[in-house]
Amino acid sequence: MNTANKYLEDSLNKRRNAGALRTIKVLHGLVDFCSNDYLGFSTTGALRAKILELEQKQPSHVFEGSTGSRLISGNSAIIESLEEYIASFHNAEAALLFNSGYDANIGLFSCVPKRGDTIFYDELVHASIRDGIRLSYAKSYSFRHNDINNLEELTKLAKGNVYIAVESVYSMDGDMTPLNELVNFCERHNANLIVDEAHATGVFGHAGSACVSDLMLEKKVFARIHTYGKALGTHGAAVVGSNLLKEYLINFARSFIYTTALPFHSIIAIKCAYSLLTESDEMRKTLHENIKLFSQLLEKNKIINSIKSESSIQCIVIPGNEKVINASNKIQKKGFDVRAIMSPTVPEGKERLRICIHAFNTEDEIKGLVEAIVNIC
Ligand SMILES: Cc1ncc(COP(=O)(O)O)c(C=O)c1O
Repeated sequence: MNTANKYLEDSLNKRRNAGALRTIKVLHGLVDFCSNDYLGFSTTGALRAKILELEQKQPSHVFEGSTGSRLISGNSAIIESLEEYIASFHNAEAALLFNSGYDANIGLFSCVPKRGDTIFYDELVHASIRDGIRLSYAKSYSFRHNDINNLEELTKLAKGNVYIAVESVYSMDGDMTPLNELVNFCERHNANLIVDEAHATGVFGHAGSACVSDLMLEKKVFARIHTYGKALGTHGAAVVGSNLLKEYLINFARSFIYTTALPFHSIIAIKCAYSLLTESDEMRKTLHENIKLFSQLLEKNKIINSIKSESSIQCIVIPGNEKVINASNKIQKKGFDVRAIMSPTVPEGKERLRICIHAFNTEDEIKGLVEAIVNIC
């Protein structure tokens, strides 16, 4: 075996021995408590019907790719008009589409903070933000999760332009960032707030416009990231902010420049998902009722190892990769698709069941899931 293959094998064995080997699997016939399809857009058929209707009106290039980068042949009037719509929906000057939330964060964080600048990021921010920060030449420091006092303490390290990176709803904990306090902090320290709204889009705010809009802080936030693979049930993402930021990203964000633009089908799907959002008040209401029911049942059953959350993401901490996998297997055997989040995705000792509550989950399903959790806790 050559040394490269030996390295691959050794690394996988190390993971395997730590009980942390990641695998991908297809499970059938279980109740969905793990997908990010919070409103059921991708499963209930509502989005599909809208997409088919719109695509039939423009049959000529439904299935083809975009043929190039936005800067060459991949741009179109329909992408530009969708970006205008996204900007107005989130009450911003401009929006720029990326092929995914991962690409949006990589592009934004790698090119906006420069050498001599400083990034402070919440210790729990998503891997895509961390990877973007790693690609930037700015100095970066993490602050304790949601701890503005710790952020204050770190300000002595600030140099150049200062950026603060947070998520409005944390992807692996489900809790929310204190946006008002962070905006105050940024005003006091002349810092620029960047908010990843991946798990808030569609779930919070008027018509699902997310947390920054809900709190009317649009003018006080430097950039927001909205992703479309979660509550919107499709794929892609947008960075939302000023016209100046958009022009800068078109010129410097490498994950925007050096990639083939989203195909026509994805643009139509995002457009339809936004249209569906404007009709989704009832679904959102049901979603929040379901979240409340789940939390109340956890409390009633004294499940103390849950992480407090008002979002669709609810977690039960079960330390140890082996233990948490055993727990998820047992729950899956009862018919509920709940996945284990292992270390190193989350810190060692904080392994957890990550449960996603949806608008389409029934009361009986939620009660059944809690009963299954009680049995393993
Ligand atoms: C907070 C957050 N940001 C960004 C992403 C990446 O988004 P996408 O799946 O569109 O690449 C995710 C998805 O896992 C996420 O949870």
